Amino acid sequence: MSKLRVQSFGISIDGYSAGPNQDLQNPLGVGGPELMEWFFHTRMWRNMYGQGDGEAGVDNEIAERGFAGIGAWILGRNMFGPIRGPWPDDAWKGWWGDEPPYHVPVFVLTHHARAPIKMKGGTEFRFVTEGIHAALEQAVAAADGRDVRVGGGVATVRQYLRARLIDELHLAVRPVLLGSGENLFNGIDVRALGYECAKHVVGERAMHVFLRKRNV
Ligand SMILES: NC(=O)c1ccc[n+]([C@@H]2O[C@H](COP(=O)([O-])OP(=O)(O)OC[C@H]3O[C@@H](n4cnc5c(N)ncnc54)[C@H](OP(=O)(O)O)[C@@H]3O)[C@@H](O)[C@H]2O)c1
Repeated sequence: MSKLRVQSFGISIDGYSAGPNQDLQNPLGVGGPELMEWFFHTRMWRNMYGQGDGEAGVDNEIAERGFAGIGAWILGRNMFGPIRGPWPDDAWKGWWGDEPPYHVPVFVLTHHARAPIKMKGGTEFRFVTEGIHAALEQAVAAADGRDVRVGGGVATVRQYLRARLIDELHLAVRPVLLGSGENLFNGIDVRALGYECAKHVVGERAMHVFLRKRNV
């Protein structure tokens, strides 16, 4: 059966997973790149962007595992791009260029309907306006037995957490304070929802914490 997984989700010590004021120049919000500083050095990330000098090691191995066995992704509209409100036209196709790193269907949650976009390399962005359950249903069907990864952003992960639909959540905890932005757990009692820390591993630039939903 497909699992719903969050992987490689960067978080600061004070609980932020995105900086404030996201725009075209700041896809992760102001200060947000600090959260992904562990990922940017990995062999995986650098290969993805055509640079061959990435580091192998714990961070890299965990980043690679996050992409294994994934048959579909779910993203929030802000992770897909900086545009808010109705789509002005069909020009915006994500931050990732002609060949995004997904290579499978990607379901984008939004209140603003849009036709699907086929990209090079097997990625297809499909826009879902009927909410998180509909997106999950469609993603599970598309994944055909493989797992579904919730890529983010924060509002999207928070909704799936609150609904207790996430089976595994891997956090890459970075030793930085962001001070403001999008807080992942604010107002959510993750423990009462039935989650526990199953494992933690210290990497080169982040501590990796794996939360798992208890069977209750
Ligand atoms: N730390 C990490 O590892 C990590 C990973 C991924 C992303 N991020 C960052 O997180 C930030 C984005 O997160 P975010 O919290 O701002 O937003 P988000 O979760 O990416 O997107 C939120 C938007 O998606 C749409 N949406 C969400 N749920 C919906 C629903 N149930 N029904 C219909 N539409 C829905 C709404 O857009 P509309 O109403 O406008 O359609 C909503 O405003 C970015 O800065 C990104 O770079 C961080």
